[in-house]
Amino acid sequence: MTEFRSSFPKDFAWGTATAATQIEGAAFTDGKGLSIWDTFSRSKGRILGGDTADVACDHYHLWADDIKRMQQLGMNAYRFSVAWTRVQPSGRGRAVDRGLEFYDRLIDGLLEAGIAPWVTLYHWDLPQGLEDAGGWTNRDTALRFAEYAHIVAERIGSRAAGIITLNEPWVFTLLGYALGTHAPGKTDLSGAFKAVHHALLAHGLGVAAIREACNAPVGIALSMSSCEPATDSSADERAAAAMDELVNGMFADPIFGRGYPSLLEPFMPAFPLDFEADLKTIAAPIDFLGVNYYFRHVVREPRANAIPEGLSAILRFAGIPVEVVPDAERGHPLTGFGWEVYPQGLHNQIARVHERYKPTALYITENGATYPDILEPDGSIRDLERQRYFELHLEQCARLIDDGVPLRGYFAWSLLDNFEWAEGYSKRFGLYFVDFETQARTLKTSGAWLRDFITQT
Ligand code: FCB
Repeated sequence: MTEFRSSFPKDFAWGTATAATQIEGAAFTDGKGLSIWDTFSRSKGRILGGDTADVACDHYHLWADDIKRMQQLGMNAYRFSVAWTRVQPSGRGRAVDRGLEFYDRLIDGLLEAGIAPWVTLYHWDLPQGLEDAGGWTNRDTALRFAEYAHIVAERIGSRAAGIITLNEPWVFTLLGYALGTHAPGKTDLSGAFKAVHHALLAHGLGVAAIREACNAPVGIALSMSSCEPATDSSADERAAAAMDELVNGMFADPIFGRGYPSLLEPFMPAFPLDFEADLKTIAAPIDFLGVNYYFRHVVREPRANAIPEGLSAILRFAGIPVEVVPDAERGHPLTGFGWEVYPQGLHNQIARVHERYKPTALYITENGATYPDILEPDGSIRDLERQRYFELHLEQCARLIDDGVPLRGYFAWSLLDNFEWAEGYSKRFGLYFVDFETQARTLKTSGAWLRDFITQT
């Protein structure tokens, strides 16, 4: 089939990734508390089409069939997240056994099916009770996270192949507290940088709590993008370096003991006075780094009439003028999100991470694409663009392995079409198509391709 398949070693982890809010549904079942996404999706105009995650893929009830689907895909690993609000409904206090039992059943089912469970502790669903006390802008949230991490690790740690503290802290801090497009929908830049620091502290304290409770390998999943200058002018190169510090270095540097990048200096007044002391906790050694790769950033010195918005507005505040070159102007195909398809960026970014931070092991903890899938009258979904997307990105993974980078696994986003945050159900990323009325799942052409790729010997 594809020549580069042979680059992947026999013990490579092949999986799909999901998140509790996006697939579980059962938002008010068995004592689950309210999360910030439950609240956010109830505030008018926040989610496209007014969608909520109340039912989603009803995976809370259909998990056993979903494990069969993973088996049908030939997967030997599965990355999912635990909903904090099932374990501690308000984010503090005694654990709810019924909530933990769901994850017991899921994990035991996975192990019986020969699928290694990779557990994310926090995939954006902060208990509303903690948000009411300031959420990630409140240092106490980091302490509460460590307590929750200990509860879960003690219960399931001996059965987990790996535990991921946080998923994409960049997204839940900056989109949640600065740009306001994700829950809790705040737009306060200095609060957002406090959130950044507290999320990092939560990770560091979480690592210690997990290690105390079990022997599972521990890591974190960071969203990372290669940041490239539009031209080789020094102004464009400066812009790319600043963007890199903002989207990659802000989390990876402190985690790997390098402290905060200099770009953050203007934001440091928002940090706690003794933040330097926290840096040691944050730099607790980890066993692996997970990277979620979707796209790159191409940036340049701003044109005269460029309006700073989103990331460039944040960078403007730091005194660095940067303009993002729109994806559509880069001459490559785009996904249904309007994201440029740029597989080379996965290679560039992972190679850079390997060189700069030297993590013991690396995993692609998410990679995938949305397209407007069509269910044909014959019941098929011929998503050839997504198939090609996977093929091109796996080719880059193979190159990395050939170059000696310790890439140990690949998790496709996602097993099922699901609740895509602020986009509701309008953006499908699954290997299985989901009919949200009937909960019927249909394997897409890309899923069949991936299965054949993985199971090819
Ligand atoms: C990532 C998220 C994941 C999913 C994909 C498309 O940023 O971690 O939950 O929404 O994007």
